[in-house]
Amino acid sequence: MTPADPSDMENHSSPQLVPVAPFDLVVFGATGDLSLRKLTPALFHRWRDGQIPATSKIIGAARAKMDDAAFHALALEHFRKFHPDEEINDNEWSRFCKHLSYVRLDALDPDSDWEALRRALDDSAAAPAKQRIFYLALPPELYGGVCRNIESANLKTETARVVLEKPIGHDLASAREVNAAVCAIFDEDAIFRIDHYLGKETVQNLIVLRFMNSLFEPVWNANAIDHVEISVAETVGAGARASYYNDAGALRDMVQNHLLQLLCLVAMEPPLDLAPDTVRDEKIKVLKALRPVEAAAARQTTVRGQYDHGAMNGAAVEGYAKELGRATQTETFVALKVNIDNWRWRGTPFYLRTGKRMRARRSEIVIQFKDVSHRLVPGAGTDLQPTRLVIRLQPDEGVRLLLVTKDPGPGGMRLRYVPLNLSYAEAFSARYPDAYERLLMAVVRGDLGLFMRRDEVEAAWTWVDGILAAWAEDKTPVHAYAAGTDGPPQAAMLLDRDEREWFDGE
Ligand code: BG6
Repeated sequence: MTPADPSDMENHSSPQLVPVAPFDLVVFGATGDLSLRKLTPALFHRWRDGQIPATSKIIGAARAKMDDAAFHALALEHFRKFHPDEEINDNEWSRFCKHLSYVRLDALDPDSDWEALRRALDDSAAAPAKQRIFYLALPPELYGGVCRNIESANLKTETARVVLEKPIGHDLASAREVNAAVCAIFDEDAIFRIDHYLGKETVQNLIVLRFMNSLFEPVWNANAIDHVEISVAETVGAGARASYYNDAGALRDMVQNHLLQLLCLVAMEPPLDLAPDTVRDEKIKVLKALRPVEAAAARQTTVRGQYDHGAMNGAAVEGYAKELGRATQTETFVALKVNIDNWRWRGTPFYLRTGKRMRARRSEIVIQFKDVSHRLVPGAGTDLQPTRLVIRLQPDEGVRLLLVTKDPGPGGMRLRYVPLNLSYAEAFSARYPDAYERLLMAVVRGDLGLFMRRDEVEAAWTWVDGILAAWAEDKTPVHAYAAGTDGPPQAAMLLDRDEREWFDGE
């Protein structure tokens, strides 16, 4: 791809940013939650940093009747709602809006006004040379139909790309259908399947931390590591999304994609280079090595929970079933013991947990090393904790290596457990772009490394389908937990059975 001509850029670029080539982006589902909450704010931030070339167009497409001005106002209203602390003046917004237009279109209907979309795309002399991107902020069952309509409306240029949001399907069979329908229109290397966790700063850092520090790789295996914990706790409930969420549940919504991607980055073998397929080849080997969950073992290795009423920050909140308006078995919390049957990880379990309406928002990876083989300091008691590497993904991004040290002072060997602390807030002054900012620019650049390949998605579903089948067969119960807590007690028992505990230390 040719880099952008600097003269294309508006005059407010930041020197460190790599310019991108001019592009046209069509967002289908432009009036939906994802588009207004994440995509337009992300594009605005990239524009403000000077990364959107002057000739680039962003076209929102949806069924609602509105004109450009109404769409601009809607986008601004949502920007302010989701970024209440950010100053943005009308002048700045209206300059950004020069890139932003709206087309009323039913993307599933081949007879809808595709001509209007063509006009919105084509009225620039630079159009043929521009990178064209179709972002499908829509439910997955619509992907195939919309892609077919894009093609039959002759809007797919030679180099056009399509961006798909997760979830790709709701099980292996439906994921295969979605992939087949999209792949019938677009080549695999033109398909960008989003897992927004891959765009997070701290998730990107996992590769650097593991492979650019000689300290870790020699001990990154079952000989030295007792177990790994991956926790993604949210304080939000299902809220307005309760009806979508009820067909998904935490396993499909979070584990199939975000948690398994984190697990892959922690567990994979060192890739030869950072080329997208080299890394994705390593990740898929991990997915294929996940030990299937058999129905007979599901009660020992999986826990499903659902939040009941409780309190968040002192305020009473309703339970999930009440929000939904009926009783349901859908899990809003899941904890799993995962075994990776390969040479590196044989005997070292990975414990995964994620939930909504938890006590605190916290996403963290804990690498717990094995105990020292000989207790040199007698009577060290509870202060003799194992070495832990704690990677905080959000909030308060950072990396801590927790070590046992001698408590300074006379009086013998007292021990203290203290962190070597890398706090992002203290070490770096930069604003961290939202994951979508990075991902959108990666699509424009054609960097597939931050996106999921077809076989990766299908391998993840293969394993998740096994759990869904085990739950269905075993009728594994959904355990209630009070909103604002750490999930059902069964999640603690999952580790207790192995004489371990979740690490929830600060
Ligand atoms: C989404 C899930 O993929 O990730 C949501 O569908 C979840 O249910 C969200 O809340 C969490 O993302 P983040 O970036 O806030 O951790």
